[in-house]
Amino acid sequence: MVALDLPDRDAALTMRDRLGDQVGWFKVGLRLFVREGPALVAELRRSHRLFLDLKFHDIPNTVAQAVASAGELGVEMVNVHAGGGAAMLSAAATAAADFPRMRLIAVTVLTSDPMPRDQARSVAVERARIALDAGLDGVVCSVHEVAAIKTACGAGFVTVTPGIRMQGAAVQDQARVADPAMAIAAGADYLVVGRPIIQAAQPAEAARRILAAMQEGYAEG
Ligand code: C5P
Repeated sequence: MVALDLPDRDAALTMRDRLGDQVGWFKVGLRLFVREGPALVAELRRSHRLFLDLKFHDIPNTVAQAVASAGELGVEMVNVHAGGGAAMLSAAATAAADFPRMRLIAVTVLTSDPMPRDQARSVAVERARIALDAGLDGVVCSVHEVAAIKTACGAGFVTVTPGIRMQGAAVQDQARVADPAMAIAAGADYLVVGRPIIQAAQPAEAARRILAAMQEGYAEG
């Protein structure tokens, strides 16, 4: 999943065209959605599957309504903050049930959170269990928490992992990073990659390198 954290429609569509069908999914997050809204989502949906990453966190009724609005946009993945609690998660899951093609995912602990890895793992597992019980399809977590979450919640519980960096690359504001081969070997279902591709001089080449590194992970796994 390439995070289209770009300023506007032109930049997003240019990136889509440069990456072509190497990439199956795009992630539309706050920057692009606040600027371009549902019209761009509709445009990107014609060629790719979409993860609408707006990380809803509000009272249960408001979050449920936002999840339903995301479902109406036809995106195939949307997320909420697990920290919103069991009632909020259940309301979101009930709303998402009307859109069977859309997966509802909970953010556990942001990959930028500097908390120690052991603590992040136990908080992420606890939040993943609450999300599972509330009827969600999976979580956003760092690669370092994938194995523990799969053990606690089952192999079919989806893990989406940002914080992906090639070895030796700049970490930027992320804290719990891992390389693509590690992510695949750990059992991550979806890798989210933003700046290592969208800020590369040659984004298509950067994406190819990441896909090749993922293949190494399959060989190891
Ligand atoms: O540029 P980079 O690869 O760090 O981008 C990661 C993307 O994943 C960003 O769009 C960020 O908003 C998102 N994300 C994250 N950590 C989470 C959830 C989403 O980094 N826990």
